[in-house]
Amino acid sequence: MRVAALIPAAGSGTRLGLGPKAFVEVAGRSLLGRSAAALAPHVAEVLVALPAGLDLPGDVPARAVTGGDTRQASVLALLRATDAEVVLVHDAARPFLPGAVVGAVIAAAREVGAATAALPVADTLVRAGPGGDCGTLWGTLTPREGLWAVQTPQGFRRDLLLAAHGAALADGFAATDDAGLIARTGGAVRLVPGDARLFKVTTPGDLALAQALAPVWDAQVWDAGGA
Ligand code: CTP
Ligand code: MG
Repeated sequence: MRVAALIPAAGSGTRLGLGPKAFVEVAGRSLLGRSAAALAPHVAEVLVALPAGLDLPGDVPARAVTGGDTRQASVLALLRATDAEVVLVHDAARPFLPGAVVGAVIAAAREVGAATAALPVADTLVRAGPGGDCGTLWGTLTPREGLWAVQTPQGFRRDLLLAAHGAALADGFAATDDAGLIARTGGAVRLVPGDARLFKVTTPGDLALAQALAPVWDAQVWDAGGA
């Protein structure tokens, strides 16, 4: 089955505050360039959704489409631009992507139809009250057992994901990820162990972590011939 990597990279990076986030560089390479390079060896083609009016940097081996106003709209534009049987959706904002996770998500997507990288939640969970205090809603009322934090890549049979996007569009339903759209239509989603290094660069604190990790990551990829 032909596999395509779809990278939503059309966001504005509001929380980071440095312009469109996919173009922000860490140790000399953009977040998008890092994500595309990690996926390229595993797939037949890489497609990227970009903000309107921006072009792909020369060092990103991919085909570009114009993204939409939301992540969901950007992924739908990407889905419509490929005829691959299996698609891997991966945020440009997650630059440190181990090859073993890519392989495991592709295998699970082929088997089940939908799969995502995810990590068991390690922190105590609380729900904040209106003023930010949580008091009586402390972690015992929000047990973390069985809870996973969802990452990307997420893998799908393309026909399943297109149908789930179509249903969400028709209902005006919005989700922050694609596996959530499959689950909403009653489809199974296989959880595949992700990686702590797959964190999403969202805030300035995340960027500081990425800058600290990049030299170690780059040395490892160089030594091992792939992460
Ligand atoms: N994304 C996209 N199209 C959009 C919005 C987001 O392709 N209209 C992409 C982003 O480029 C990113 C991924 O979806 O790779 C995850 O989104 P997020 O981390 O929220 O990035 P931004 O939307 O750029 O950041 P912010 O929400 O802080 O503005
Ligand atoms: Mg966003």
